[in-house]
Amino acid sequence: MSREATFSYLRSMKLVLKNIAQLLMVEDEPDARVAGSDMQRVNSMDNAWLAIEDDKVVCFGKGEVIPYRDDEVLDCKGGMVMPTFCDSHTHLVYAGSREKEYEDKIRGLSYEEIAKRGGGILNSAALLSKTTEKQLFEHSLPRVYEIIRTGTGAVEIKSGYGLSTRDELKMLRVIKRLNEETPLTIKATFLGAHAFPKEFRSNPDGYVRLVIEEMIPAVAEEDLADCIDVFCDRGFFTVDQTDRILEAGAKYGLLPKIHANELDYSGGIQVGVRHGALSVDHLEFVGEDELNVLKNSNTMPTILPGASLFLGLSYAPARTMIDAGLPVALASDFNPGSSPSGNMELIMSLGIMQLRMLPFEVLNAVTLNGACAMGIEKSHGTITPGKAASLIITRPMPSFGFMPYAYGTSQIDTVILDGKIQWTKDA
Ligand code: NIG
Ligand code: FE
Repeated sequence: MSREATFSYLRSMKLVLKNIAQLLMVEDEPDARVAGSDMQRVNSMDNAWLAIEDDKVVCFGKGEVIPYRDDEVLDCKGGMVMPTFCDSHTHLVYAGSREKEYEDKIRGLSYEEIAKRGGGILNSAALLSKTTEKQLFEHSLPRVYEIIRTGTGAVEIKSGYGLSTRDELKMLRVIKRLNEETPLTIKATFLGAHAFPKEFRSNPDGYVRLVIEEMIPAVAEEDLADCIDVFCDRGFFTVDQTDRILEAGAKYGLLPKIHANELDYSGGIQVGVRHGALSVDHLEFVGEDELNVLKNSNTMPTILPGASLFLGLSYAPARTMIDAGLPVALASDFNPGSSPSGNMELIMSLGIMQLRMLPFEVLNAVTLNGACAMGIEKSHGTITPGKAASLIITRPMPSFGFMPYAYGTSQIDTVILDGKIQWTKDA
């Protein structure tokens, strides 16, 4: 764009960010995702300004900006500006909490043993069935604002604590209402196949039939979900059951996002890729076969290091995956059982500390690749004219790597979603 064109463009602008030490993830024509050694690269612009009109980024440039006099100007005071986080895997709609189970874990029970005793997901399902839709919305709303304050601009939220048609619909209606009534961009995933309810323990296929014949059509009828998920792992849903559920979802246009290979080499990655999954998530158990299957696919491998930290599980082999040329997304898994935090700055820190990812690899993983894992890469994940003006303004930092390195101390000063300031530290 010529200098003159930039100035005439500026005449209609509403919000101009100035005094930006570094703009990160700037791309005029971004790819859908970043893989392999490209994950180490982030395009940036030093000493920059950026202009927003309505809910979109319109342009940015280097040096001083001369805004039109009606424009609102926000001084970034030498901080950095980057896209908000795209957290592609959460269960943040839930009732109650499960800190008591964590005491059982400290005393020596494993996640699977707690689940077998009727704790875990079934515990959350029992609490949720006693909670009204209105209460569930009211309990979940503060969690949405909490993650906005910590820099998340787009999130995927799953059902899966209903485990009956009535309660799965209840959860998905709450997710829909959160999308309509909060500034967060939300994608909804139907996860009826999260666990087998007690009454189906000796008849698991009966539950699979219920998911296929009753739940999926009911979810589609009300248009409540974008995606479909199955917990395909040891002690949960088999590959064959997953296959049937994904096939049934596909008839209603539900795109798969799979919980796979958290507890074992479950075959979940393979079945997910076979169904063209947007993402396969967890991935603590990944071998040669899994790597090869992923290499020949468009499925986004998504790692949830918060769950490994909280449950004391091994970490997914992120380094091996990236070195093999794969893309990786990082997400929080925010849920009451295996990762009760949606803090993506912490997830970035786990990326550098536990997954041996480099700072720019982590940045790509929590922005563009997270957007891709939700199918929203055309509108989110980079700073690009025409994409959403959903941005984080940081404190002044010596370099971007300081953000994940200074773990436990937030570097976020201001969060802008779709062109509107949602939170600022000074307010
Ligand atoms: O992603 N692994 C399966 N589901 C969730 C945990 C759900 C829960 O324990 O409440 C997860 O870790
Ligand atoms: Fe999960």
